[in-house]
Amino acid sequence: MKILVTGGAGYIGSHTCVELLEAGWEVVVADNYSNSVPAVLDRVEAITGKTLQRYEADIRDRSAMDRIFEENEIQAVIHFAGLKAVGESTRIPLAYYENNVYGSVVLFESMAAHGCKNIVFSSSATVYGNNPIPYEETMPVGDVSSPYGRTKYFIEEILGDLYRSDPDWSISLLRYFNPIGAHESGLIGEDPNGIPNNLMPYISRVAIGKLPLLTVFGGDYDTKDGTCIRDYIHVVDLAKAHVCAVRKLMDGSGLQAYNIGNGKGYSVLDIIHAFEKASGVKLSYVIGDRRPGDLPAFYADASKANRELGWCAALDIDKMCLDTWNFQTKNPDGIH
Ligand code: NAD
Ligand code: UFG
Repeated sequence: MKILVTGGAGYIGSHTCVELLEAGWEVVVADNYSNSVPAVLDRVEAITGKTLQRYEADIRDRSAMDRIFEENEIQAVIHFAGLKAVGESTRIPLAYYENNVYGSVVLFESMAAHGCKNIVFSSSATVYGNNPIPYEETMPVGDVSSPYGRTKYFIEEILGDLYRSDPDWSISLLRYFNPIGAHESGLIGEDPNGIPNNLMPYISRVAIGKLPLLTVFGGDYDTKDGTCIRDYIHVVDLAKAHVCAVRKLMDGSGLQAYNIGNGKGYSVLDIIHAFEKASGVKLSYVIGDRRPGDLPAFYADASKANRELGWCAALDIDKMCLDTWNFQTKNPDGIH
């Protein structure tokens, strides 16, 4: 049983490849390495002791996608490939629409042409915008604050239209909350290029001395300590959710959205303190201005994934920090 993983060399994709291989699936990766390196896949193989098949391929390249489906009998696709930097998407929105939306359409066309109609799509909690918390899957989506977030919303809508046009499709929209952490081997983890945008990779680079100071974006929110609240989820728990979602697709589950989060909210200061405890390093930080577009607080109601996928998050915030620090210290210069 072969699964095609687009973007499989990336942060979440690589952890998912590990879980798929360990669960006994055959894995085919398509990645253009625009935000990753092939060595990540060597590490996936080292962790699992199994091999995967790899294509250096761009999802926007129809002939490259067709070739993969012609050379492999693919049962389902897990679609991670995409650009993901919220700030960058406001500066170069067309690149985001072209890569994420157009690229997804090309992928879906190729799937349809080869009779592969099972897909798990990497969506985001950002599609909920400003809704009451905890977010539930039945809440309205689309009030999104960035071009990046709109690409996720538009792709969800495209998949919805596809399903309504042909109910043979099985589609799982996984709305991730804030993935952090790393595989406990320390071989794979989040390895952003340049200065990180997201909290956890920023913290870990401050802790290892590669960045001087963390700025906490806003200390005057109406939250318990004035800093923003998010739902952090260990990337290994998130990866396991994909294995559960793929199994469910095989039952012909139709079109479903699932929140993939811990269901608990932690503030930025909670994360700083948990990281200090896990690493033994005192972090330098200042409270700065709010970051435009940040919501004060959100977290998941993940009970649907629990009920229908049999999945729930198992790893706590201390483990997320410990594994992040382990990856950072074992790979001070990233993965080459
Ligand atoms: P990542 O950048 O580490 O991984 C994405 C992978 O896709 C990279 O290996 C990149 O080289 C590849 N890629 C990009 N465009 C491609 C294209 N046109 N053709 C082929 N490969 C391409 O990102 P990630 O954190 O692993 O995120 C994976 C998915 O999950 C993305 O779609 C992202 O938007 C979504 N997501 C991420 C987060 C998060 O906080 N990390 C939150 C919600 C949703
Ligand atoms: N933060 C700081 N300082 C930093 C970086 C972040 O204080 O240097 C704060 C942010 O203000 C926010 C929290 O840390 O309160 C988390 O920020 P991240 O940038 O790590 O994550 P976001 O919640 O902004 O965004 C993440 C993903 C998006 C996704 C969104 C909703 O990066 O892809 O969650 O799921 F769309």
